[in-house]
Amino acid sequence: MAELACLNGRIMPISEAKIPIEDRGLQFGDSIYEVIRAYSGHLWLLDRHMERLKASILALNITGVNLNEVESQIKMTLQRSGIGDAIVYLQITRGVAPRSHAIPQNITPNIIITVRHIQKFPEELYATGVKAVLVEETRWARRDIKATNLLPNILAYNEARRRGAFEAIFVDQADGMVTEGSHTNVFAVINGVLRTPPADHRILPGVTREFVLWLASKEGIEVDVSPLPVSELMEAEEIFLTGTLTEILGVTLLENKIVGTGTVGTITKRLHSAFREEVRKAIESAA
Ligand code: PDD
Repeated sequence: MAELACLNGRIMPISEAKIPIEDRGLQFGDSIYEVIRAYSGHLWLLDRHMERLKASILALNITGVNLNEVESQIKMTLQRSGIGDAIVYLQITRGVAPRSHAIPQNITPNIIITVRHIQKFPEELYATGVKAVLVEETRWARRDIKATNLLPNILAYNEARRRGAFEAIFVDQADGMVTEGSHTNVFAVINGVLRTPPADHRILPGVTREFVLWLASKEGIEVDVSPLPVSELMEAEEIFLTGTLTEILGVTLLENKIVGTGTVGTITKRLHSAFREEVRKAIESAA
């Protein structure tokens, strides 16, 4: 087993993959990305990640990307790595050109893939839940595009870590609405109803979020997708975070307030075990 990179279709050790200094991804953050998880060699919800990738490419009008080729490069790199439980990072930059705010025509995008062993969270975290803190929403207005401009996200995440929390949840000061976490989407159970903000420009349409909404309807759980005021989040019976690495993770402490009974809630647990069951079925049917 070996952690590998694939740069424009060529597989190599990660340390050997190099990008020129005038790449627009480096200079402007003019690039988009996806993080995809493989469970026992099965690329989980790959089609959904590819659809979102396509949406990001269209939103930034990055030209010259062949999505079928990108998908085969992902599969080839994963297979070559021999890693079963992997994190696949894919980044597509607009390409290399002398620095200019004007978007150059006819440049070739750089397609970067890495495949690494996943650093799983300890199971205990799912059993006990985590702490989250609230931070001011400081990001741009097109959070639905999975662009690599993640400075506000990493600053928020590091503030959360400093405050002893697992995640920072952004709150828009303009209207008091919860948007999402620094690298997760947010759900809450309020008066028995599963709530999450709508997938508009204010949040990333998380692949896990969408799957959880599907799971909830399958499980007969009442769902309300609508703007979520922070005042309601503070009073929630349950809160959980969703993400490719995170899966479904209960929040039992919000700032210094205990959420619900202070234990991971029943709907959270139910959805997480249903999620893992679906993963198990997908691995089994791929085998
Ligand atoms: N982050 N919201 C934000 C801002 C994110 O960065 C992510 C994922 C999510 C959850 O999306 P998904 O369920 O598709 O993973 C929500 C990835 C994992 C990252 O940047 O590492």
